[in-house]
Amino acid sequence: MPKFYGKITGWGAYAPPRIITNHELEATLDTSHEWIVQRTGIHQRHVAGPDETTSTMAVKASWSALAKANLPATDLDLILIATSSPDYFTPPVSSMVQAALGAHNTPAMTIVTGCTGFVYALVTAEQFIATGAYRNILVVGVELLSRFVNWEDRSTSVLFGDAAGAVVVQATEQVCGVQGYQLGSDGSGYQHIIMPSGGSARPFGADVLHEGSHYLQMNGREVFKFATRIFAPASAKALAMAGKTMADIDWIIPHQANLRIIQAAAKDMGTPMERFIVNIERYANTSAASIPLALAENLDNGRIQPTDTLLLVSFGAGMTWAAAVVQLQPKAS
Ligand code: UT7
Repeated sequence: MPKFYGKITGWGAYAPPRIITNHELEATLDTSHEWIVQRTGIHQRHVAGPDETTSTMAVKASWSALAKANLPATDLDLILIATSSPDYFTPPVSSMVQAALGAHNTPAMTIVTGCTGFVYALVTAEQFIATGAYRNILVVGVELLSRFVNWEDRSTSVLFGDAAGAVVVQATEQVCGVQGYQLGSDGSGYQHIIMPSGGSARPFGADVLHEGSHYLQMNGREVFKFATRIFAPASAKALAMAGKTMADIDWIIPHQANLRIIQAAAKDMGTPMERFIVNIERYANTSAASIPLALAENLDNGRIQPTDTLLLVSFGAGMTWAAAVVQLQPKAS
């Protein structure tokens, strides 16, 4: 039986036009541009407009990716949407995206693993391709966290931005795709990034509204320590599975949560910062969208070549982590 690999034939991203700078936040919050830049590297974030939702942003990025792949949405075999900020708890946002794309009856599912969602989804797509089950898969990372943070809470609201990124993965018999990965979860730290109310543990009610406990809360210091601890070992495991070393990697795309986390990872791995793709200064932390957004942007500007081998590394709510060695397209034979 032939072995199939997932070739990334299309990519696209969408960030809402409205930009909120750190200086604008200074007007309403006890914060400063200097604090935000020094502690996170963030200068601004894109924020969805009133008519936008998670699904509308996902659809925009998806159309770009499908156009680049020259693939009609009706040819999709599977749609995977990674997000923790869907339009509704029910129905799954993946079905809304499927309908909006006109991908009639295509199976669609939402993957909810926090910021690591896109990497989890890409690795999942590769498994369906490798078994020969599906040939054309759309993988989207999308997040609209500006509607889930408390804009009066400086410890979270300055950190996040809204965006979507998408890729089309298509089966090929030439070697490429996800060559090694490590996915992980340690739910004992579940409380470190949490929306405490609004779910089955604590349903929405007047008390919840009064407390504001439906908003996203984060224990930043714990998440920071976790992220810096997990980055290098997860990368090493993904590389080992791929039978590669850092010398084989053209670019590292880390989850864009904090510039200091990326700098610490670079130091830990003995890898210069120049090999890390960083765009946190313009988009802030877009959670599950951060890696596909950085990927699409840097493929479009030519910094990343389609035949490059990338190391994707993410960490986030759960706590979860995910690293993957991905060769987007086969090397010319
Ligand atoms: O994508 C999901 C994964 N998320 C992450 O990876 C986030 C990881 N964590 C972080 O990026 C950092 O922990 C933060 C950026 C969230 C916070 O940076 P920190 O250096 O860990 O600061 P801190 O939480 O230890 O707070 C230091 C001080 C505190 O004041 P006191 O208690 O020392 O007086 C905070 O109240 O900074 C204060 N502070 C702020 N000051 C101005 C917190 N937020 C702000 C703010 N502006 N926006």
